[in-house]
Amino acid sequence: MANQALLNCFPELKTPAFVITESDLIKNGRILKDVQEKADCKILWALKCFAMPEAAKALKPYLAGTCASGLFEARFGKENFGGENHVYAPAFSDEDMAEIVKYADHISFNSYSQLRHHRKAIEGAGKPIKVGLRINPGYSEVETMIYNPCAPYSRFGVGAEELEKEGIKEISGLHFHTMCEQRSDVLERTLDVVAKKFGPFLRDLEWLNMGGGQLITKPDYDRDHLINLIKEFKTAFGLKTIYLEPGEAVAIDAGYLVASVLDIIENGMPIAILDTSAANHMPDVLEMPYRPYIVGSGEPKEFPYTYRLGAMTCLAGDYIGDYSFPKPLKVGDRLVFTDMAIYSFVKTCMFNGINLPSLAYQKENGEIKLIREFTYADYAGRLGEKL
Ligand SMILES: Cc1ncc(COP(=O)(O)O)c(C=O)c1O
Repeated sequence: MANQALLNCFPELKTPAFVITESDLIKNGRILKDVQEKADCKILWALKCFAMPEAAKALKPYLAGTCASGLFEARFGKENFGGENHVYAPAFSDEDMAEIVKYADHISFNSYSQLRHHRKAIEGAGKPIKVGLRINPGYSEVETMIYNPCAPYSRFGVGAEELEKEGIKEISGLHFHTMCEQRSDVLERTLDVVAKKFGPFLRDLEWLNMGGGQLITKPDYDRDHLINLIKEFKTAFGLKTIYLEPGEAVAIDAGYLVASVLDIIENGMPIAILDTSAANHMPDVLEMPYRPYIVGSGEPKEFPYTYRLGAMTCLAGDYIGDYSFPKPLKVGDRLVFTDMAIYSFVKTCMFNGINLPSLAYQKENGEIKLIREFTYADYAGRLGEKL
C-alpha cells in the first residue's frame, strides 16, 4: 500500500510517472542478504526485471552482483553496481562479446557451438572469466507458455544427453532458469529433476546458478525451506557456490505508476481514458496478462462506480481493466498503480509517439527526487532524427 507521504507528494508530479521507493528496495535487499548468509549462497540482481542507478546505490550492500541479458546490462552492472558480473544470452554477436568480456566475470552460454565460437574472445580477455552452460532440465511448472523455458522446441539450454556427449572440460558451472513467480516447493521439485539428470556432472563442477523466477521476498514465501534446499544441494554435490538470480524478488512492491484521468466517456459502461497505456507503460498487463492493483480501487461493482480504464493509444485492446471506486472519477483525478517497478519501466516504449513516464525516486527519508523527464528528443532521436 502506498504510504501517505508518497500519496501526498503525487499532486506535485507531472503524470504519468514511475515512483520507485527506496525503503521497499532496502526491505527486499535485507531479506535477500539474510538468505545469502543463512544458505551460504550468492544472490545476483537480474537487471532485465528492473534497473536504475539510484536503486543500485541502495541495493549495493545487500547483493553479490548483477546478472545481465547481454552487453548493455553487463555494462550497466559494472558501472553502477560492481560485485560479480554474470551474463547469459541465447546467443552473442562477436561485436558484443568483444565488449562483454571487459565487464563480465561469468559468462553462461546457451550451446556448445556458442561456447566454442567465443572461446578466443574469453581467452584473450586478459582476466579470468568463468564459463558456464545453460542446461534445460525439461521440467518447468510455468503454465503461461510464453514464460515457460522448457516448452516443446525451447531454444534455451542443453540437455543431459548433449553434456554426456560433449563433456564438461570447457566449463566450471551450470545455469538453469525454469521458474516464474514461483515458490520453494517448485524449486524443490525442479532440483530433484536437475539432480537426477545432471547430478553426475555437478559433482565435477564448481558452481550452479538456479536462475530467477523465485518470489523470495514475498511475505508468505517459505525462506527456511529455500535455505535448507540450497544447503542440502550444495553439500550433496560438493559445489563451491550456488547462485540465485531473481529480478522480481529484488524490486517487488517497490514502485508505483501514477497516472491521470484525461477524459470519461460512455459506451455501454463508463470508460476513463488515462494518460498512460498498458501497451506502452505496463506491457505485461497485456502480455502476461495480469490486473495491476490501483490504490483505493476494488473489483468491478465492489464499490459503487465501475469504470473500464483505457489508454490514449490507438490499440483497440489497450485497456488496463475494469475497476470500481467509492466516488465517481473525474478528469484530473490521479490513479496510483502498485508494484510497477518489475518488468514495467524496463519494457516501456513510445508507440504512437506517446512520451515515456517520468522517473522519480523516493529516498528512504521520504523525500521524492525527480530523476528524469523525457522529451521529444528522446522520441525523435531513436527514430534517427538529427537534433
Ligand atoms: C535467465 C534468467 N535469469 C533470471 C531471470 C529473472 O527472473 P525473475 O524476474 O522472474 O526473478 C530471468 C527472467 O526471465 C531469466 O530469463
